[in-house]
Amino acid sequence: MQSITGALVLAAGKGTRMHSDTPKVLARLLGEPMLWYVYQALAPVFGDHIWTVVGHGADRVRAAFPERADRFVLQAEQLGTGHALQVAWQSLRDAGVTRLVVINGDTPLAPTAALRAFVDQSGGCALSFMTLSLRDPAAFGRVVRKNGVVQAIVEAKDFDLDDHGPATGEINAGVYCLDMAAVEPLLAGLTTENKSGEFYITDLVGLAVERDMEVKGVHCGADPQLLGINSPAELADAEELLRARIVADLRASGVLVRAADSVRVGPRVRVAPGAELCGPCDVLGATRIDASACVGPHVWIADSEVGPDAQVRPFSHLEGARLGPNAWAGPFARLRPGAVLERDAHVGNFVEVKKSVLREGVKAGHLSYLGDADVGARTNVGAGTITCNYDGKNKHATVIGEDAFIGSNTALVAPVTVGRDALVGAGSVITHDVPDGALAVARGRQKNLERKRGS
Ligand code: UD1
Ligand code: CA
Repeated sequence: MQSITGALVLAAGKGTRMHSDTPKVLARLLGEPMLWYVYQALAPVFGDHIWTVVGHGADRVRAAFPERADRFVLQAEQLGTGHALQVAWQSLRDAGVTRLVVINGDTPLAPTAALRAFVDQSGGCALSFMTLSLRDPAAFGRVVRKNGVVQAIVEAKDFDLDDHGPATGEINAGVYCLDMAAVEPLLAGLTTENKSGEFYITDLVGLAVERDMEVKGVHCGADPQLLGINSPAELADAEELLRARIVADLRASGVLVRAADSVRVGPRVRVAPGAELCGPCDVLGATRIDASACVGPHVWIADSEVGPDAQVRPFSHLEGARLGPNAWAGPFARLRPGAVLERDAHVGNFVEVKKSVLREGVKAGHLSYLGDADVGARTNVGAGTITCNYDGKNKHATVIGEDAFIGSNTALVAPVTVGRDALVGAGSVITHDVPDGALAVARGRQKNLERKRGS
């Protein structure tokens, strides 16, 4: 059988210290779940040979990464990190894995380069693990050495100054490299005799040392990116680290980032050099911002495209939207999934657009709802125009032709079509199609009566 270096992500824990029902590995940093980052870091080194132990909220984790689910191993009861490894062992052996890197799923910012260097330095060892030096070892597992030689990893709870001390500040980062054949006989030696009553993967170190195997603690400095996340505060700190790194990269590439400390850009976002982002703003998901486009302050954007010279003005909210060249939205615009503003189309304040195409040059300046609509080029949609697209059961389409003019405060009761060049009088409730070039008025006529005064 071929020999494979594989990776195993431990992601079954509940994350009690997060105080949330969401499995910890699905907690998000700049819009992406922790586990997504771990896979990003591992993929260049391990390709498809990445397995994941899931347990708490396994169905949710599976649903978040369906493409990886065939390499998920279920740890039905979470009896500790050592138990997670035991549960996955046979699947790894069956797949031909001979050398295994194990990484905690709560270490999302581990850089690929650090992992690659660690694997390179672990060659020939039975067991190696990454260590970091911290001023305060906090709740991390502590590395115990004698004359510089690793003896054990002792969890903070179990650390005893008399037996192990003094603590040096060298901690276990939670990344291990195992020679599977060498480590296999140690697995059965793990016990729950510790303060947590769990099987610890870290006990493998002491067991290997007892058997005179070659064990290495690979020191990796003090890089905060390698710290595990256990609490909301640590999540926020890690997110800030990542945010600053992404913004620095954008600035270096030629993006104009104003009020940079409050610009939050997700890792999948692409911003072209010459574009402008002004904080505070969030730009997340698979968003693309083209050259010379401008995203103003107090804007939230996810999974959208902002074309060249397009502008997203302050206080706008975009999700799954597309702005063509020189299109504008806002201030105070809401573009929901499927909103498309083609070249030179403008929507102004308090305009909501959902699953609708506003073709070239369309203007909807104020206070409108356009849902399931196709609005022809150069048409003007007056203030307060509403597409009544929902009959309580189904959604219906509104089609408006080119060069039409929809008067203010018009209700378009879908399904309905307004022809090209048509004019709809202000305040109309349009329930029937309007032919091309027609004037439609559908409102009560004004009556001016004599005013009656009390006697
Ligand atoms: C662990 C290490 C500690 C190290 C730290 C680094 C152990 C015993 N301790 O502590 O030495 O300094 O990471 O961040 O390993 N998990 C499972 N199944 C379980 C329990 C946990 O898959 O039964 C997963 C969790 O989802 C998590 C990872 O293992 O992603 C680590 O578990 P966690 O409880 O966070 O360990 P720490 O206390 O942080
Ligand atoms: Ca942890």
